[in-house]
Amino acid sequence: MAKAKTAYVCSECGSEHNKWQGQCADCGVWNTLSEIVLGPAKPAPATGRRSGYAGAAAAPQVQSLSEVAQLVEARTSIGIGELDRVLGGGLVEGSVVLIGGDPGIGKSTLLLQMLGALGERISSLYVTGEESLAQVAARALRLGLSLAPLRALAETCVERIVEHAAAHKPRVLIIDSIQTIWTELLTAAPGSVSQVRESAAKLTRFAKESGISVFLVGHVTKEGGIAGPRVLEHMVDAVLYFEGESGSRFRVLRAFKNRFGAVNELGVFAMSDKGLREVPNPSAIFLSAHTGPTPGSAVMVTREGTRPLLVEVQALVDQSPLANPRRVALGLEQNRLAMLLAVLHRHGGAAVYDQDVFVNVVGGIRVQETAADLPILFAILSSFRDRALADKLVAFGEVGLSGEIRPVPNGEERLKEAATHGFLRAVVPRANAPKKGKIGEMEVIGVDRLSEALDAIM
Ligand code: TYD
Ligand code: MG
Repeated sequence: MAKAKTAYVCSECGSEHNKWQGQCADCGVWNTLSEIVLGPAKPAPATGRRSGYAGAAAAPQVQSLSEVAQLVEARTSIGIGELDRVLGGGLVEGSVVLIGGDPGIGKSTLLLQMLGALGERISSLYVTGEESLAQVAARALRLGLSLAPLRALAETCVERIVEHAAAHKPRVLIIDSIQTIWTELLTAAPGSVSQVRESAAKLTRFAKESGISVFLVGHVTKEGGIAGPRVLEHMVDAVLYFEGESGSRFRVLRAFKNRFGAVNELGVFAMSDKGLREVPNPSAIFLSAHTGPTPGSAVMVTREGTRPLLVEVQALVDQSPLANPRRVALGLEQNRLAMLLAVLHRHGGAAVYDQDVFVNVVGGIRVQETAADLPILFAILSSFRDRALADKLVAFGEVGLSGEIRPVPNGEERLKEAATHGFLRAVVPRANAPKKGKIGEMEVIGVDRLSEALDAIM
């Protein structure tokens, strides 16, 4: 194939250059140029090599959505409940799903198990650019999968992958991983931004035209993003992150973007010697096994996705030797922590400006909702004063800049979950507390202000 015309585009200002250079001549930022293909590659002649997948040929037409509606939501259940849940109810025809995660977290294992679950029912093709076919087969054996229905291909050139897929017509295509895939149109090395972007674009187009569901595996960079431009996230229909702490066997699959379902939906798995096992009732697995109350630890009920989850937040507050004390948040948003510390100083009377503050969510899970505010402050204050919170205490609630405690959605459901797990006391926003002040055996204290909340626990 002739090399397509390419140019170099600055990722900061978007200006185009003919040649690569270290610094963008327009905006002056360094190391932002990457190669792109100019315009679409030459359209193939009707009798050309472009293998015969249908759909692209028909010119687009204006249609009433009611005519289209019967075609949508052709969902197929995968048979792995937690995966179906995160995808929003199963596979969608012609969708492209990006699965990101650290190396070794279990992405290949999960996808291979998915193909095992699809089995004879739904034809699939597993394209590996990282492992040999023998390695894939050995892993499938170890996972106890039946090998006969599994089709695999060791190939990294996207044009040839598309040819094979068009010939074999699987309903599910897995690309492991997108960073190893390259297109003939570009000279850049596989894994470079331009190769990743162009290959993913090609596969996305192929998925839409052929109706094949495509799963792309993407490695996560040190900064926590999927290597390659943000545009990868815009291109695909769903982005799932596979997360977990290296020391823990639990893995969480989280929908970060989903055109077909709820975001922040969580699927929970445990890694075993036979691969990933589903954890359908994960509610309390993220509590650490303390023997008694410990300073710096608070339990909250988060509601990521569609079910409540009990999670432990830990804080360590210690005299800082630095002029600018450290504020480190793991599993939480850094800016939110800075804001909460300011509120704690102003409205809670605790001055931590000369202290290092570390906050961590146990189990490597990420909590992004504002309901975590109150338990984070509890954990921080508890560590600062070196006094443990009462045993069996749970909390949630958003903290505002003027020290008010704001209600969060699904309060009752969260409280019920905590009561079911034997918690005896809950400190929550007033509007989330039931009138009679009790749920089951659990006493519920509703608060309006941060100062009230702190009085209730210390
Ligand atoms: P893998 O799926 O190769 O990770 P990724 O594709 O995200 O890089 O996961 C590999 C890890 O999982 C490896 O450290 C070994 C472990 N593992 C098990 O513990 N049990 C198993 O049955 C399998 C297949 C892997
Ligand atoms: Mg892998």
